[in-house]
Amino acid sequence: MKFEATFNSLLYQNNNFEWVSPFILKNKLPFDVFDELSRASKGDLYVDKLVGLFPDQYQIDLKECPLFEKHALSVSDFFAEKCGKTPIFTEIRQNVPYGSSVYVKDLWVNEMYSGSYNKLHRHDGLMSFIIFIDVPYTHEDQVKEEQYIDDPQKVMNGCTEFLDPYTQSLYKLKVERGIEGNMFLFPSWIYHVVYPFKNVDNPRVSMAGNISFDYRK
Ligand SMILES: [Fe+2]
Repeated sequence: MKFEATFNSLLYQNNNFEWVSPFILKNKLPFDVFDELSRASKGDLYVDKLVGLFPDQYQIDLKECPLFEKHALSVSDFFAEKCGKTPIFTEIRQNVPYGSSVYVKDLWVNEMYSGSYNKLHRHDGLMSFIIFIDVPYTHEDQVKEEQYIDDPQKVMNGCTEFLDPYTQSLYKLKVERGIEGNMFLFPSWIYHVVYPFKNVDNPRVSMAGNISFDYRK
C-alpha cells in the first residue's frame, strides 16, 4: 500500500465502517479474518511486565495471519483516503520519502484479568489498532460493581479512553460483550488507557498492533 492511498472500491461498497470519533475508525472484521486471528498461537511474552496488574502480552507471528495482514492494510488505505489531507498527515508526508509504503509491523495479544489495567501509553508507527477477541462482561455488570456512582455513564470499568494530543479531544470507548470481532484503527500518536474491570473469572482478550512506514529496504 502507498501512503498516498489507493482507492479500494470494494471497501467503500460495504457498510462495515464507522467513524466513532474523528480519529477512530471502527471496522467489523470479515468472519474468516476474525477466525484466523482467534486461532493464532501465542508466542513470546512481550513488553513491560507487572504481574497481575499489567496485561499479559504475547507476540503473534504475522506469518500465521496473512488474511488479517491484507485486510488491515486495506482498512489503513480507507483511513488514509479520508484523513490523509489533514495537517498532521500532510506534515508527516512531507517528512518521509515520496511514495513510502506501509506494512503491518507487529501484532500481539493482550490478556487482562479482573483488576488489571493498561497504563496511559501510545504506540510507535503511523496507525495502530485494537481488536476485541473475547470480552467477558457487560457494562451493566460493571455498573453493579460501582453502586455508589449515581450515573452509569460515569462508570469507567473495562472501558478504553483515548486522547488526541493535537485536537485535545477525548473519546471513551465502552468495551463490553458484543464488541468482539471489531477492529478500531487510530493514528499511533493517540494516547489511550484501559481501565480495570471487576469480579469476572475469565480474561478479557484483545489484540493490538501497528502499521508503520516500511524502512526495512
Ligand atoms: Fe495500546
